[in-house]
Amino acid sequence: MSIFASRTDVLFSQLRGDGLWKQLQTIEGPMDAEVSMVVGGKPRKVLCFCSNNYLGLANHPEVIESGVRALKDYGAGTASVRFICGTFGPHWTLEATIARLMGTQASYSFVSAWTANEAVFPTFCEPGDIIISDELNHACIIDSIRLATTIKKGVHKAVYRNNVLEGEKSLRAALQAARANKDVTGQIWVVTDGVFSMEGSIADLPAMRRMCDEFDAMLVVDDSHGHGVMGRLGRGTHEHWGMVEGGSERGRVDLFTGTLGKALGGGAGGFVAGSQQAIDLLVQRGRPTLFSNALPVTIAASANTAIEIMLREPGRVQKLKDNVQYARTKLKAAGFDVLPSPTAICPIIVHDTAKAIAMSKRLLELGVFVIGFGYPVVPEGHARLRCQISAAHSTQHIDALVDALKRL
Ligand SMILES: Cc1ncc(COP(=O)(O)O)c(C=O)c1O
Repeated sequence: MSIFASRTDVLFSQLRGDGLWKQLQTIEGPMDAEVSMVVGGKPRKVLCFCSNNYLGLANHPEVIESGVRALKDYGAGTASVRFICGTFGPHWTLEATIARLMGTQASYSFVSAWTANEAVFPTFCEPGDIIISDELNHACIIDSIRLATTIKKGVHKAVYRNNVLEGEKSLRAALQAARANKDVTGQIWVVTDGVFSMEGSIADLPAMRRMCDEFDAMLVVDDSHGHGVMGRLGRGTHEHWGMVEGGSERGRVDLFTGTLGKALGGGAGGFVAGSQQAIDLLVQRGRPTLFSNALPVTIAASANTAIEIMLREPGRVQKLKDNVQYARTKLKAAGFDVLPSPTAICPIIVHDTAKAIAMSKRLLELGVFVIGFGYPVVPEGHARLRCQISAAHSTQHIDALVDALKRL
């Protein structure tokens, strides 16, 4: 047996023994409030409270139709990276739509938000720069920073406590330390999730912007769980904070990253949105842009339609907000401790990973699909059930979720 096979065997028996083994579930049919899950080889209807299909657009007839039309018109793809011969019209259309949505000069699409984030720091940072990151930022931001600091010697990094802007281990403390560090001679970058994916909490973007201005730092926001959810039109956490209209370029977020695989169609794909100069630099120098194929055109077209629907039907974002309010009130009334927040992520902390997984299994038996998260997705001791609310849910669906949780 190879070394790899024997050490992996050991890991697997540990995971199984500790009740930490992750079981992939099969869904037959589209993502919706109710999904058809294969249980014991047979399809069974269950209520889905763990998808990021926040606006219920993954199964929208127009979103499907746009994807099908693009597939018929353009085929499966160009079999090439963008700069060689890999750009179709729908890529430009989507990127113009995203730039309009984000209020930026330009945007560029990727096969995932993971790839988009991973392109950012290794492309934009140079020796002498420092990247200051919230401790709860998504794994792809962390990996992007690791990559940048590994491949470019002299790129520095610092981490501040989640959402702590002043005091010990705060963003301000990290900025002050950066300014005092004689090796930091270049750009200071501050990066945060807009909505923290495991907490459902949000970053205080106006305060962060002010602080970035004080220290001449660039502000980068990954709003994968905020786009389609936050603000009146679903433009994101910056819209929630009133940072969309007016203001000089410095009054805003410098660079957004986001996903098309959640509220904005749910297929896959991600993007970077920012100044024309930043996007041009990604096109000229980004390794994922130079060495990896384009977003499949069918997804570019369906994501574009999803954004158009979101903007023309603001009632959808409002329905999500109403559902979130309803769910949070009901969960609280039932005695569950959910963090107060306007986001669609309602985590119920149970601490122990094996317990979270066992609770998730029991919920499924009760016809409700909610995933239990533990280490390494969240820190040890912070395991949780993460309930995610969608505009596709009815109040009856939410009542059924709360009833099932109460039966646990
Ligand atoms: C904050 C954040 N950024 C990035 C990603 C990655 O998105 P994608 O699935 O498009 O790679 C996720 C997905 O969970 C996320 O929550």
